[in-house]
Amino acid sequence: MTQPTPLLQVRDLRVNVGERTVLHSVSLDVPAGHLVVLMGANGSGKSTLGMALAGHPSYAVQGGQALLDGQDLLQLPAHERARAGLFVSFQSPPDVPGVKNNLFIRTALNAVHEARGQEPLDAFDFLASAKKTAKELGLPEAMLGRPVNEGFSGGERKRNELLQLALLKPRLALLDEIDSGMDVDGVRAVVALVQRLRREGTAFVVVSHYLQMIEQLEPDAVLRLDQGCIAETGGLELARGIARTGFARARQTVEA
Ligand SMILES: Nc1ncnc2c1ncn2[C@@H]1O[C@H](COP(=O)(O)OP(=O)(O)OP(=O)(O)O)[C@@H](O)[C@H]1O
Ligand SMILES: [Mg+2]
Repeated sequence: MTQPTPLLQVRDLRVNVGERTVLHSVSLDVPAGHLVVLMGANGSGKSTLGMALAGHPSYAVQGGQALLDGQDLLQLPAHERARAGLFVSFQSPPDVPGVKNNLFIRTALNAVHEARGQEPLDAFDFLASAKKTAKELGLPEAMLGRPVNEGFSGGERKRNELLQLALLKPRLALLDEIDSGMDVDGVRAVVALVQRLRREGTAFVVVSHYLQMIEQLEPDAVLRLDQGCIAETGGLELARGIARTGFARARQTVEA
């Protein structure tokens, strides 16, 4: 069977954080509607991959390629990457004091709509759809009127990332431990939303240590990042093996 053309193509990506090379050579492909789970020990560079793809200035790309639907992401400023359809959630979503959550999301959504040649949403229509989606995700409506993430609990911050994902409907989403700090209903909401967007063609890279959620996501591939490279590629059996024996054992097995 021929493989579908990848929507995201990452080739030999090399990324420095300060003086240190954290990613040596990372390559991965994610076709539209596919979901890849990225696993790796703490500090192995999973978030670094997300930040480098998003264009965070502290993560300096030294070499390699990252294409989204053939477009060279690395040549674009961060906001143009988002307009091209990239969404990267934060492992620890920061506060944005003084910026109202609904205005923040509407501004982002309209920038994306403009890039897609769609009409901007007026404030009334946006609020109606944001309220409906927040309710589906178990996020109190009052959170829309508050400054972004200010005073939000850990789980509420993660649900707020989900709200952005649901409204922006990106082409490729990298979700960085979206499940951490979320209660069981939150994790259920993650799985339902990801599966719905995936059916609509969104491609996903999901970083997680949580086997139960990984199983529910029915990934097309599971990758293990180690020493700045993709050390192993497999299916759910790889995630189950890591859960059983740990990352240290997984590394020894491959080296043996
Ligand atoms: N902004 C930064 N400043 C200094 N060091 C950083 C920065 N970002 C990442 N690092 C370092 O790069 C390495 C990889 O970090 P990264 O956050 O990508 O790991 P991770 O795989 O996401 O880990 P975790 O599972 O704990 O989230 C770590 O050693 C980390 O300390
Ligand atoms: Mg991380």
